[in-house]
Amino acid sequence: MKNHLNNYSASVFTFLGLVNLSLFSCDTTQPQENVSLNEKEIIAAMAQKYKAFIDTVTHYAAVPRTYENGALKMASRQDWTRGFFPGSLWYLYKLTGDPSLMEDATEYSLALDDIADFKGTHDLGFMIYCSAGNGYPLTEDERLYDIMLRGANALKTRYHDKIKLIRSWDFGQDKQFPVIIDNMMNLEFLCWATKATGDSSYYEIAVDHAKTTLKNHFREDNSSFHVVDYDTTTYHPRWKGTHQGYNGQSAWSRGQAWGLYGYTMMYRETKQDEFLQQARKIAGYILNHENMPADLVPYYDYDDPKIPNVPKDVSAAAITASALIELDQYLPGNSYRQKAREILKNLGTKYVSRSPGHPFFLGHSVGSMPHNGEIDVPLNYADYYFLEALLRLMNKKINA
Ligand code: GLY
Repeated sequence: MKNHLNNYSASVFTFLGLVNLSLFSCDTTQPQENVSLNEKEIIAAMAQKYKAFIDTVTHYAAVPRTYENGALKMASRQDWTRGFFPGSLWYLYKLTGDPSLMEDATEYSLALDDIADFKGTHDLGFMIYCSAGNGYPLTEDERLYDIMLRGANALKTRYHDKIKLIRSWDFGQDKQFPVIIDNMMNLEFLCWATKATGDSSYYEIAVDHAKTTLKNHFREDNSSFHVVDYDTTTYHPRWKGTHQGYNGQSAWSRGQAWGLYGYTMMYRETKQDEFLQQARKIAGYILNHENMPADLVPYYDYDDPKIPNVPKDVSAAAITASALIELDQYLPGNSYRQKAREILKNLGTKYVSRSPGHPFFLGHSVGSMPHNGEIDVPLNYADYYFLEALLRLMNKKINA
């Protein structure tokens, strides 16, 4: 929307052929370390690409979600991915200091005002905390705070005080009270709300949700079901299965990544050891899985019998990398940070999207195999967690 640099497409990828593992320092205020990938060039290329995309749009309410079958697809108003493009702009602002990125990130985040009071989904954490939640600590813009608090209050209404969980979806005639492992990611938003207001009820709901999920979502081998449906009369699980994985007994890769990130984050927020131990177990499951490829970018599901002839999911790898960097702070000596660096290096070299016509940096993610939707495509959340991981790797401080 502004007069940013144009003609970006020819230059964005040329450096990728020149990856030389050279070491860079980055212009941040936190302690830094050298990272074995040319992250400075990647960040500059991403900023240029995102800005060039924004130059082509006419309003901030619609955000790009993916590029599929030769067409850019935008997120609808209630789309769970709406917060990631603004969130990536906040991360790029933190990584570059470019004020135009902050202006655009602010406008895109303010556009989420139209969803802040919506009580029909658990995804408010993804939508609002990844956008406004990244911007408010930097700007103290009261308009962002207002969106966040209204969103946290809307999310809170989905809590069931007997089941002790937040309901995920309202769709699905055959379900009574479905809860997906992804829902762990919304708890950080509730923890923020308690810190912001002094009202402990948001935090207590988050802790309840994490504890009940720990009890019912995990298998003996520390993998998780994608969906657990609860009986609204007995309050116990009545069905366990999947929505986006290979089958009901399989381990959907992004779900394992959400669990790893969610329990690592909940340990940060609560210091409860059972959450840390769960994160450790999930990391062990992911990193030691016999079907994990050598480059640590998993197939969309760990248990599809057609492996290796199934698509990989870059989004799962990016989420995992970001979580491992944080987990390494709490459990040093397990090479989690080293594994994250390997993932990021591989993503930044082997999994870059070369399709024109969209702003995304990474390709090769999977939305949902069973629905034959978004297979081997860029996804806005893969870029978001990739940027978050780069920021964490360079800043050391989580949530800097
Ligand atoms: N939260 C939806 C997904 O991970 O696809």
